[in-house]
Amino acid sequence: MHTVNCCTGPTNCSKDTDLDPETKAISFSDPDGYFCAPGTNRYPLKPRLQLTGRSGCRVELLEREGGVVVRKSSASPSYNKRLMLQAAKQQSFRDGGGAGEFAAPAVLRQYNGGTNTSAWYEMEYVHAERYSDYLERVTVDQLKGIVNQLIAYFDRGRLSSRVESPGRLIFENKLQELRYRIRTRPSLDERVIKDVFSFLGTPPNENLYLGSCHGDFTLSNILFTHEKLYLVDFLDTFIETPLQDIVKMRQDTCHRWITMIDQELPIHRLNKMTQILSYIDQFIGDYIEEDKILRSWYRYFQTFNLTRILPYLTEEDEITFVQKNLRLLL
Ligand SMILES: Nc1ncnc2c1ncn2[C@@H]1O[C@H](COP(=O)(O)OP(=O)(O)O)[C@@H](O)[C@H]1O
Ligand SMILES: [Mg+2]
Repeated sequence: MHTVNCCTGPTNCSKDTDLDPETKAISFSDPDGYFCAPGTNRYPLKPRLQLTGRSGCRVELLEREGGVVVRKSSASPSYNKRLMLQAAKQQSFRDGGGAGEFAAPAVLRQYNGGTNTSAWYEMEYVHAERYSDYLERVTVDQLKGIVNQLIAYFDRGRLSSRVESPGRLIFENKLQELRYRIRTRPSLDERVIKDVFSFLGTPPNENLYLGSCHGDFTLSNILFTHEKLYLVDFLDTFIETPLQDIVKMRQDTCHRWITMIDQELPIHRLNKMTQILSYIDQFIGDYIEEDKILRSWYRYFQTFNLTRILPYLTEEDEITFVQKNLRLLL
């Protein structure tokens, strides 16, 4: 849902500008920067809409000289580093020409933030449809086209990665962190948690595809237009593997997390969406089955993925949902 946000930014601005070599976006030190752009005249830049996500970051649509840009700001300075990594990953995907039909909005400007101020970056606004509005209206041929694009995207990731042993340490460290975070959640089902950690304690003894990925390749992070599919909300992950993108997509198509968190879908639309997601999922399931490496690692990664969601959840129905899906995987 788009909610109107009425706040406006401050009027002072700094001229301290810098071209970030990694993202090629213009960085500058005006914390809010609503009213200035380096090297240009002052122009009005006011938040008009707030787009919703779940990360806690603020995502706003800002008006600029008749056009619009999207600004994403970290919820607190502790998230600044991750937000800047996200901007860098998005721009580097774009600089690499995207992947097939998948593109990414250009990062236009960024502010790295400070100990007490939130970081932000601005990117092109993509006039796109929500996954549900788009998928519900596509023809069977268009749906097949989307499946083909997803498979081609996974193929590119797989073929451009190295096949190596990831080692056990990376999983052990992450598990330790996860165990610590989960310890403080008394509402979790002890039995499930015990089984999950026991399963995750022994990663498959196989090589894995290691290489770049989006990091949070879910349906809500794909902006659907009739020409292209745009990716937003890139995320650094503890292990960069194209399998992570397959796992995240199946979080929606197989486990249907998106229909769980989508507050806007009435029941008749939910049923249709479930059918569409199942259709897409069959192909991804087959894709995994046909590849020995994906087959060996998929269940391990999906279990890790769903467990990693748990510490962020506060709603009882969401916790129950994730635990039920974990039980199905074990
Ligand atoms: N460049 C953009 N153009 C159009 N809509 C966008 C853009 N970036 C984000 N959005 C919308 O805002 C939502 C939240 O943004 P996102 O970066 O995914 O935030 P979160 O980290 O909270 O999930 C997205 O799901 C999408 O609908
Ligand atoms: Mg998102």
